[in-house]
Amino acid sequence: MNRILIIGSGGREHALATCFKKSPTVEKVYVAPGNPGMADVAEIIPIPTDDFNALIEFSKANQISLVFVGPEAPLSKGIVDVLSAQGIPIYGPTASAARLESSKSYAKTIMNKYGIPTAQHTTVYNKSEALKYLSVNPAPIVIKADGLMAGKGVTVAMKDQEAIDAIHEIYHDESVVSPVVIEEYLEGEEFSLMAFVKGKTVIAMDIARDHKRAYDFDQGPNTGGMGAYSPVPQISQIQIDEAMDKIMRPIAQAMVLEGNPFEGVLYGGLMATKDGIKTIEFNARFGDPETEVLLPRLLNPLDQVIFDMINDKKPQLKFDPRFALGVVLASKGYPRTFEKDQQIIGLEHIEAQVYHMGTSYQDGFRNASGRVLCVVEMALTLQEAAQKVYTEILKIDAPQLFYRHDIGIK
Ligand code: AMP
Ligand code: GLY
Repeated sequence: MNRILIIGSGGREHALATCFKKSPTVEKVYVAPGNPGMADVAEIIPIPTDDFNALIEFSKANQISLVFVGPEAPLSKGIVDVLSAQGIPIYGPTASAARLESSKSYAKTIMNKYGIPTAQHTTVYNKSEALKYLSVNPAPIVIKADGLMAGKGVTVAMKDQEAIDAIHEIYHDESVVSPVVIEEYLEGEEFSLMAFVKGKTVIAMDIARDHKRAYDFDQGPNTGGMGAYSPVPQISQIQIDEAMDKIMRPIAQAMVLEGNPFEGVLYGGLMATKDGIKTIEFNARFGDPETEVLLPRLLNPLDQVIFDMINDKKPQLKFDPRFALGVVLASKGYPRTFEKDQQIIGLEHIEAQVYHMGTSYQDGFRNASGRVLCVVEMALTLQEAAQKVYTEILKIDAPQLFYRHDIGIK
């Protein structure tokens, strides 16, 4: 029987814990540092994600069979390198392989070298270089600060002034020198393709659709994601096959050829453009909130899928054919400043699955971060799933929270 330790504290980790817990071969699930909303399926361990020594000690003392990492930060700090050197079983990319996510310029270099389709781009290093580039490359155009920004360092500028403002914000004083990717605007239908990867082996999961903008009808700033559904009817199997043939398998192969093999969940943020499927970004981990709508559909025991990957046996994934749809409730003000610690009333009346993205507990649950809850329902049609979720959300009394009203509704 397996004992699983999940690293992280959001809705993705709550969905991971719920999924691992369902497996007949999982005895116990721990989450570090977790949040109090996960106590329904896991034991919460108060160890921060970057305290590798404490995580090693805990894993040894509790005979952990598998460590699974949710967020990007510990991966890019080398949690896989450090824990595996101690003989602790962990599935995820090394810090070097996680650069596919942590460095936009590394990802672009590899994609260009191996002919993997992506938006044309340039990298600039200071304000005057950036403004000069913008003066000859008009909007629509996309500005991306390098480094881990959880989708929030990206400005999709539809007007020249928005691009200029973004550059002024990044290079807030003349002394700032840091790489910024400026890239071609891609138009089309966006989708997320996540796969279990080890070296050249790429086992695709079903696809999901995220909604990155904060407000209804894709208005407002980019966020970590305000809602998702899976599968995605507007993307055909032919398009998914193209994404696997031109992007997902080639990038895994490229990493092997670079001497930097990728092991773990690889997330392709993809755009179906009129010129074919193009890469927007790679993430070195499960997406959030995509995981909250994907894992409830996974019919295989998750621990067995991961052990198959580790042992070079190709797992055959099976997904529930129904649609899963999730809507995120976020603190008003997110992705900018917001107030925390206000009470959330009515959660006990909810029949839907509620994944806690960021709650604390004091006389009931309170909002403790930007994204707070993800309410998920499944149904035979997307419309029905959306209807169920939005009906359930009405039972929550929390005026400090907001959500989009158009997830899965055209
Ligand atoms: P990223 O962090 O690179 O995923 O960017 C966040 C979001 O910005 C993406 O999910 C897209 O919705 C949007 N975006 C990023 N790059 C582009 C692009 N080249 N063209 C159009 N939209 C983009
Ligand atoms: N939902 C997008 C991400 O996890 O980066």
